[in-house]
Amino acid sequence: MLIKETKNDLLNTVMITSSVNGEGKTLTAVNLAVTLSREIDHSTLLIDADFRNPMVHEYLGIEYEKGLSDYLGRDIDISDVLIKTGIGNMVFIPAGGMVKNPVELLSSKKMETLIKDLKQWYGDGYIIIDTPPVLSCTEAFAMGSFVDGVIFVVKEGRARTKTIEDALNMMEGFNILGVVFNDVSISNLDGDYSYNYYRYKKKEKE
Ligand SMILES: Nc1ncnc2c1ncn2[C@@H]1O[C@H](COP(=O)(O)OP(=O)(O)O)[C@@H](O)[C@H]1O
Ligand SMILES: [Mg+2]
Repeated sequence: MLIKETKNDLLNTVMITSSVNGEGKTLTAVNLAVTLSREIDHSTLLIDADFRNPMVHEYLGIEYEKGLSDYLGRDIDISDVLIKTGIGNMVFIPAGGMVKNPVELLSSKKMETLIKDLKQWYGDGYIIIDTPPVLSCTEAFAMGSFVDGVIFVVKEGRARTKTIEDALNMMEGFNILGVVFNDVSISNLDGDYSYNYYRYKKKEKE
């Protein structure tokens, strides 16, 4: 469904976020990128834009020297931070060294231009961006206008419904492509969260 909808509209740059941490954003971003690149054979770029808690390299088992924060904060070439993963056609940009100004870097003109350029280079493929949670930091909010769409992850039992609604309200105006209801026990499939998200979407249309 994601592929059909996004390909028709050329929406190939997708950010993964959630209301709070530990909801499974990174796992979802990695799984999505691996699936797109290996099983569906699209060229895929996975970017770790969570400078506060970079974890994508851990999930992929990749060590690196430089990454996105170094590219944004210094004068280095983008080719210096692109890593071939060996998983299908998947390339990875790690987060890079720790920085004091993650919001400034990720909301910068340089970041916006990079996303625009990458979108052209990956015109036939996908760019998946892992980000920090919406409510504790403003990076995801700042990057929302650079990307084509947002996938919002909700882990069962992690955040209160009100917290999720607050985060979704903050992302209003961005193109929310879908909500991943993560780590759900079968018995709760018709539970509170799905009901409330349905209500949120309904409210949006009214
Ligand atoms: N569906 C799932 N099943 C089992 N463990 C999960 C699932 N989703 C996430 N986790 C675990 O929860 C923790 C947080 O996931 P992570 O993707 O790093 O969250 P986030 O990036 O939102 O902080 C990790 O230890 C991860 O392995
Ligand atoms: Mg994470």
